Order: sequence, then C-alpha cells, then structure tokens
Amino acid sequence: MSAPAKTAKAIAVTSSKGNQEKWCENGIWYKLDLFGYEALAEVFCSYLLSKWEIPFPTVSYHMQTMTVDGRIRTGCSSADFLAPGHSVITAAQLLRRYVGSDYRAVIASLPSDKQRIYWLAETVTHITGLTDFGSYLTLLFEIDTLFANDDRHLNNIAVLQTADGRFDYCPIFDLGASVLSNTQVCRYDIAPRALLSSLRAAPFSMNFTRMLHTAQSLYGAHLHICRADVDAALQTLLPELAAYYPARDRGDICDRVSCVMKTRLPLFCTENV
Ligand SMILES: Nc1ncnc2c1ncn2[C@@H]1O[C@H](COP(=O)(O)OP(=O)(O)O)[C@@H](O)[C@H]1O
Ligand SMILES: [Mg+2]
Repeated sequence: MSAPAKTAKAIAVTSSKGNQEKWCENGIWYKLDLFGYEALAEVFCSYLLSKWEIPFPTVSYHMQTMTVDGRIRTGCSSADFLAPGHSVITAAQLLRRYVGSDYRAVIASLPSDKQRIYWLAETVTHITGLTDFGSYLTLLFEIDTLFANDDRHLNNIAVLQTADGRFDYCPIFDLGASVLSNTQVCRYDIAPRALLSSLRAAPFSMNFTRMLHTAQSLYGAHLHICRADVDAALQTLLPELAAYYPARDRGDICDRVSCVMKTRLPLFCTENV
C-alpha cells in the first residue's frame, strides 16, 4: 500500500488540534510521531484495549508510514469517530464555557486530590447529563496507570456534542504518550524503571497508584484485563511495531514497553505470574 501524502488543505484544517502534526482525509485521521515512538504506543495500547470488555468506546489506531514534504514519516491512523454534525468538546473547553475562565483556580482551591477528581467528574456530569462520567473518568485513569500515560490533561478528556446540543461519551483517544514513548524526556540512557517512577499522572499531577485507587474508591473498578493478552502482545505484536523504528532503537523500545507492562500489571490482576 502506498503511503498517504499530507496536503496543504489538511494542515490548515487541523493545525490547532493537539501537539502532534495530524490531519483528516477521507474519514481517516493521520498523526505523525513527534518526540519518539507515539504511534507504537497508540497501536500497542489500543490493541490491548480492543481485546478486553471496556464499558466505553475506544479509538483503534494502526501503524502508518506517510509521505510528508517528500519524506517518509512514521505515525498512526484512526477512523474518524465523529458522526455528521457531532463535535468533540474537551473538558477544558467545557469547563471554560460553563464554569468560567478561572476554572483552574476553582480546582486549585479544593483541599484534596480526591475532591479534585470528584469535582471534575461531578461537574462534567452536571453540565452534560452523562451520569456515568465518574466511571468513564475512572476508566481513563485506570488505562493511563496501566500504560503509564502521563498526558491525560484536560484536552485529552472530552465529550461529544450532537448538532442539537446533547452530549455523549467520547471514544477514548490519545494514548500516544504511553509506554515511555517520549524519548526526549524519557531518554534512552536512563533505566526504564527510573523513568517510570519519575512520571506524574495528569490532570492533577498525582502519583499514578494514588490516582488509580482514589478514583476507584469513588466510582469503582472498570478495567478488567487478561494477563495472557499482555504477554502475547509483548511477544508478537511489539517486535512487529518496533520494526517501524531505527534498528538501533528496537531493543530499547521493546525493553521499555515490557518494563512498563510488567511493573503495572500487578495493580490490575491477581493471577499468578
Ligand atoms: N479518530 C479521530 N476522530 C475524530 N477526531 C479525532 C480523531 N483523532 C484525533 N481527533 C481530533 O484531534 C484532536 C487531537 O487528537 P489527539 O489524538 O489528542 O492528538 P495529540 O496526540 O496531538 O494530542 C482530538 O481532540 C480530536 O478533536
Ligand atoms: Mg491529545
């Protein structure tokens, strides 16, 4: 299959969305790697989520090579999840619109992380009428903890809005910062375990385990995983995905992803190792 080429029209339409260069053409979103192996992270994590019964929709990502300014680049693609007339409203936009531009000060004034998580979940529920938003948010935090995704800021939490103003749950998107993919911050010369223990969970800059247990204590556990799927993906899928990256990095990438999964798995399953 030939690599899709990025056009000038696509750049103009999508340049304000997120950090990674991306565009949508013929119902497919293309997103280029920026700081490391983001595409591998998206594909590896979304593949595992697709194996499990997840109570909310998730976006499926695929590896993709693309021609951009005459160069072959690595990235990922995903099917456009927006139905006609629908739009993505990020939590940041929602809070700015309904709470006010000082919503950050409101969050900062709360006395504990537990109250911040509760406030976010209940405020979005109140605005949108999505009564399971606390469960949805907890699932996001569970997924982020499992894959060590430290990029769940308020623009990576979203709802859908239909043309007549109703709200719905947004398919879970953007796991690109998972599994230590940002090699500019998470450098190859630092041991994966050290990198992992230095990460803080967004959006409230918490320790991942504390965020996980706090959200679960409020809204229950929603991510039920199968260890055998993780082991199989590490063994078979991961080397296939790593082959998109320079040969000198492949061993490191596989070690880092394996380290994240082996460190985080015990938080989610009690099966024998
Ligand atoms: N598959 C998709 N369907 C619909 N919109 C998408 C899709 N992928 C990305 N987008 C849009 O692009 C925005 C940024 O995407 P994201 O994956 O968060 O990029 P980044 O990794 O650069 O932050 C999303 O908020 C959404 O509006
Ligand atoms: Mg994003």
